[in-house]
Amino acid sequence: MQKVTTLGEFIVQKQEDFPFAKGDLTSLLSTIRLASKVVNREVNKAGLVDDILGSSGDENIQGEVQQKLDIYADQVFIHAMMTRGEVCGVGSEENDEFIAFDNPISRNGRYVILMDPLDGSSNIDVNVSIGTIFSIYRRVSPVGHKAVLEDFLQPGTSQIAAGYVIYGSSTMLVYTTGNGVNGFTLDPSIGTYCLSHPNMRFPDYGNIYSINEGNYIKFPEGVKQYIKYCQIRDEETNRPYTSRYIGSLVADFHRNMIKGGIYIYPTTESAPNGKLRLLYENNPLAFIAEQAGAIATDGYQRILDIKPTELHQRTPLFIGSKKMVEKAMEFMRDFKDFN
Ligand code: AHG
Ligand code: MN
Ligand code: MN
Repeated sequence: MQKVTTLGEFIVQKQEDFPFAKGDLTSLLSTIRLASKVVNREVNKAGLVDDILGSSGDENIQGEVQQKLDIYADQVFIHAMMTRGEVCGVGSEENDEFIAFDNPISRNGRYVILMDPLDGSSNIDVNVSIGTIFSIYRRVSPVGHKAVLEDFLQPGTSQIAAGYVIYGSSTMLVYTTGNGVNGFTLDPSIGTYCLSHPNMRFPDYGNIYSINEGNYIKFPEGVKQYIKYCQIRDEETNRPYTSRYIGSLVADFHRNMIKGGIYIYPTTESAPNGKLRLLYENNPLAFIAEQAGAIATDGYQRILDIKPTELHQRTPLFIGSKKMVEKAMEFMRDFKDFN
């Protein structure tokens, strides 16, 4: 019988990579692991339970109608963080302001978390993969006090760890602490994540491009030209590429990491900064992408270098196989003046 490594074992084995962390990063990752299993349980039965399905009617700060599971997942993760003490505050897509935990244990927490508790939530009621995205930083404010905004507005290069959970045909937790990317599949029969995808790597090239082409006429000229390039026949570069777009960033990213591909959410006329949020969508996935040998930019510059100014800041995202993103950026540069 092959030896199975569980996520719990793996996290403990890797503790020595973080001499500064004194074990609290290890327990924080365990907190996320636990909360994700609770959310997974609800996601799995979403189709069965009427009152979980559908929208709650409330809107979040970005004017999007919140689905009930968004709120449920938000509460599960926040509650887990608040009660276990490693984290002093959370910034979440579902909360207009960051939450600074005001209790004695949490004030001593040395980390902050940014998260998209449920990504791709418009896909819940059609049984399509959704996800959770998280990003972990060491706080910059003094331990023993409440978290402040500066703790959350750090560039992506300062991330200590980042990851996502994908609730798909199977549930997986994929994360990095800056030493490569590893993926764990939840075995539902024993309720345990097992190492299934060690040292994940993006292929340098792929033949998948993922973009919402419904917005085509509103795209910058460089993106339009790149899409045409993807569609032109060329045997050497294996074109035309295949278009695949789920509408759940986590699921599109995950597929492209395994098969090779590029995901683009550019600016559009109506969304001059794109749609996706820097702190809890783009940065964590950019960190994972780079750790897996891929790249992530806003079309011109590295995502991880952007200095955030707002909690819910948006940036365009070009992420995926290195050679493909480089090619798309070439088009962005060449057609910069045509917009
Ligand atoms: P969320 O459900 O967290 O608001 O994120 C939705 C995001 C992302 O998952 C997806 O890639 C993108 O929105 C899809 O947007 P379009 O429908 O505009 O393509
Ligand atoms: Mn999202
Ligand atoms: Mn979301």
